[in-house]
Formats: sequence, C-alpha cells, structure tokens
Amino acid sequence: MVSLVSLFTYVLTSLLFLCTHNTVQAIAQWPKGGSTRFYEFKVQMLQVNKLCNTRSIVTINQMYPGPVVYAQEDDRVIVKLTNETPYNATIHWHGVRQILSCWSDGPSYITQCPVQSGQTFTYEFTLIKQKGTLFWHAHFSWLRATVYGALIIYPKKGVPYPFKFPYEEHTVILGEYWQQDLVQLERSVMASGGSAPIADAYTINGHPGPNYNCSANDVYKINVVPGKTYMLRLIGALLNMESFFSIANHKLTIVEADGEYTKPFTTDRVMLGPGQTLNVLVTADQKIGRYSMAMGPYMSAQNASFQNITSIAYFKYIGATPNSLAIPASLLPRFNDNLAVKTVMDGLKSLEIGQVPKEIDMNLFFTIGLNVNKCGSKTPNQNCQGVNGGVMAASMNNNSFIRPNISLLQAYYNHINGHFTEDFPGSPLKFYDFVNGAPNSAPNNTGSTNGTRTKVIEYGSRVQLILQDTGTVTTENHPIHLHGYSFYVVGYGSGNYNPQTATFNLVDPPYMNTIGVPVGGWAAIRFVADNPGVWFMHCHLEIHLTWGLSVALIVKNGQGPMETLPHPPADLPHC
Ligand code: C2O
Repeated sequence: MVSLVSLFTYVLTSLLFLCTHNTVQAIAQWPKGGSTRFYEFKVQMLQVNKLCNTRSIVTINQMYPGPVVYAQEDDRVIVKLTNETPYNATIHWHGVRQILSCWSDGPSYITQCPVQSGQTFTYEFTLIKQKGTLFWHAHFSWLRATVYGALIIYPKKGVPYPFKFPYEEHTVILGEYWQQDLVQLERSVMASGGSAPIADAYTINGHPGPNYNCSANDVYKINVVPGKTYMLRLIGALLNMESFFSIANHKLTIVEADGEYTKPFTTDRVMLGPGQTLNVLVTADQKIGRYSMAMGPYMSAQNASFQNITSIAYFKYIGATPNSLAIPASLLPRFNDNLAVKTVMDGLKSLEIGQVPKEIDMNLFFTIGLNVNKCGSKTPNQNCQGVNGGVMAASMNNNSFIRPNISLLQAYYNHINGHFTEDFPGSPLKFYDFVNGAPNSAPNNTGSTNGTRTKVIEYGSRVQLILQDTGTVTTENHPIHLHGYSFYVVGYGSGNYNPQTATFNLVDPPYMNTIGVPVGGWAAIRFVADNPGVWFMHCHLEIHLTWGLSVALIVKNGQGPMETLPHPPADLPHC
C-alpha cells in the first residue's frame, strides 16, 4: 500500500500544480522518476473496411485500436479529450486506482457527465505504485466496442521485470466488432426487452482474421525469431463475451494479471473476460513455421447465442515461407469448458506475499445474476422479447441499478438531493439456495427492484465482499469490475458460498480489478476502502451492465487533506 509520506508528497505536489501557473516549478517537485505524460485524445469517426462492408466507427485519433498510453510507475498522466463526433463520450482508465482523483475516473453519469459533441475535458491522474498492462476504454453507451487502447506502465527506471527480460513485447487486444452504430444498438436492444445480437466478428488488435468473409488480409501477425522469448500483453476489450486465447503448439506462461505480477504459471490457454489483462511469456521454441494465435468464445450461460467463428492471428517465425499453411490452434477449449477457466484461475498467485486484510470491518454479500421482469408495454411484440414474453434485466442483490441523469459524484459532493439513495442492501434481503433453488418461472417470480441505490462505506474500512452468482434465468460467469481499487481474490468456489466450508488464501491471493465469478459459484474479495469517491462496481459484460448489474460504492472522506477528495476540476462537463 501507498505509504502516507509518499502520498502526502504527491498530494502536496498536485496541489502546487493546481495552485501555480508555473508548471516547471511544480514539476520540479515531483518525486524522482515521476514525469508527466501528456496525451491528446480526439474522439473522431474513422471509415473502415471490414467483413465486406465500409462503415464509420468511433475512435480516438482515428486509430483502431486506439493509441497506446505509455507511462512509468508513479508518473502523472494528463489526457486532453476533445469530442469531434456527434456522440457523447467519456474515457475510463480501467485498473487505474485514481488515488484522490475520482473526478478523472470516467464512467458517464457516475463520476462525470459525458463530454458532449464539440466539448473538451482533461483527465489527470497519477499512477501511484502501479505498473503493468492496463487499458482505457469509452464509458458511454456501448462505444467502447471500438473505443479502446492499451495503457502500458513500465517499472521505474532501473527496476527490472521479475522474470527474464523478453526479446520483444507485443500488445494483443481481444475485441468484438459490430457492423452497426453501437449507440443505436444499445437503444434498440433496450427497447426490445430481449437479448443482444451477437457480434459480427471477434477481433485481435482490430483484425477478424482469415476465418471471416473478406478478411484474408485483415489479420494481425507477429514475426518472431526462433529461440527468442516474447511477452504478450493480452487485453480483454470484449463487449458482451468472454474469450479463450491460445497459440498453436506453444505454451503461455502467465507472469502478470490485471497489472500485478504473479508467480509464473504455464498453461496451454487462457481465458479473458472483458476488463481483464494478462501478460504472458511465449518462447518461439517450435519448428520454423506459421502458427495460429486464436481467440474463441467462452460462454457459460445456458441457451445463449454467440459468435462461434474463431478469430485468428499469426505467430510467424522468421524464415517460414510466407504462405506456409498456418498450424491451427487445436488447443482452444470448447465454448463451455468451465474447467479450463478454473484451471487458469487456480494458477494465479501473487508473486509477493500481499498485504491482505486479516481483520474485517465490513462484511458485504452481493448476489449477481439475471432477471426477467413482467411486460408493462402495450406493444409486447416490440418491447417484451425476453424469456417468456418478459423484459430482460440483471441485478446485484436483486436490484437493477438505474443510471441517474446527472453525475452521482457531483450529486454526492454538492449534496444535490433526489438523484440516488443510500439504501443498497449489504446482503440479500432473503437467503435461499441461490444457485439451484432460484426462482425460475419467468416472468412471474424472476423480477428485480429498480433504483439508483448506493452503498456507503466509511473511510479506511477493511471490506470483505462475497459475490454470489444466482441461477435465476441462468447461471453464468460474470466478470465483476470495481473502479478505483484492486482487491485480493481470497477465495472462490462452485455452488453457494458457505462460510463453514470455504477455504481462503490469505497468503498470496491475486490482486485484481476484475474477477470472473465462477458460473454457479462465488468469489470472495477483500480491500481497504482508503480512496474516497463514488466508485462504480459492475459486470463488465456490457449487456449486463445495461440491464442493471451494477452498484455505486460511496467511500467517505477520512481525516485531513490526504484522505479527502479534492474539488472537481473546473472543466468538468455539464449534463
Ligand atoms: Cu472497464 Cu466501468 O469499466
């Protein structure tokens, strides 16, 4: 954890930075090694040809995937966002802990109003004690389907990786592509009351690869030197799916997850949910040739439809004949191989013994799952296309979160009444067999409540949260993401959480920002609530977020300026 002294220095320097126009003087106060990285992000339309069609997509700086933000541990990052599209936009810095900078976190209607067409907003945050692979993405409607990019934080100068330095590093972003306007798509899915249409393609760094129509040349490749070891920074920037990834005939050694080092763990394949990142080492130790890097679906829900065409990229040895047959990735598990997911999860351990809270001040228990609400529309054929003529929803503790129409953080900070309540239950109103005894006669007994309900947490609380999947409608692996914090994943298992039988790892649990709660199971996470602000917690499957699978946690200020959220920036957008 951040020592108070160094945190003090940061806040002092950032206050100086705000109070003086003499930037040079302010920067001179930064601790050694911390520089300021300035980026300009223009939200712009870009014409692309994909899957036999031309269309305009929303991008940053007309790049797809977007520009990489490079920084070093402890650097300050300043990104000026200018919106040159007709859509609203915000950027979320996924995995950045945003110590005392909640205003720059980015989820629309949670920490800020969206940046409207023609407007500008500047994000500013310091990467205190953070390094590794993170990413950024849009956090308005479904724009993040094309608006995403890597955030790569190198260790401080002179600090080596805790593994052999790779010959080269490459970023591999897994995504989903739609041939439709994503804001329109979200609206029409919501209006239908039903499920979301499947993606038109999976993509690796924006490329669908040769299995898709008109995509023989729309393929990503890495040229490798035989015998060398490469580090791949894998990023799950998917929208509504989780995905397996493997390289034909090659082993992957995981060395980092969600921007934190792990004990090396070698596997044939990995699974990334949206919001998850993994660094893996791959040694080019096979016969000279062209090998497939493959991403395919992981779908743990029953009766769900999904894109089933594998996206392929090439891991091509220098010296392989250009058109040599690609060796297929036969290692991708079946779409519902839950055991493959568990095997990788079992292998994730923090490299260092963590500072896992041993005592707990606040015990929380949130169920997560889907719902079907009764049809209230006069045109059910149009608006109630969910299970049995109902309306699809999703919830935490059976409450579907309703997005407010102003920013929650502003409402909270300025004491503006009427936009949210503080009555989100710390545990389910009733306990039952969540997994196997869940109500399932949709839409009669599968409804959820609605509300902009928040949970208030005292500054400094040591929090344990059990996330419990339910079987209402269907069980499913949900990638749950918490803004503003990483948390220790101290336990997980299948079935209902039972404190009598659950075993916890309090020694070297992984420290993550997104946890794939096992299908029909539970996960236990712990963190210290030492960062004041309003922090969104949600399923990173976008359709579930849209349906209400989220909650906002309000962490109160502590004592003095080191534990108090500063004033909002002057250019914070209006709704
Ligand atoms: Cu990466 Cu609120 O999300």
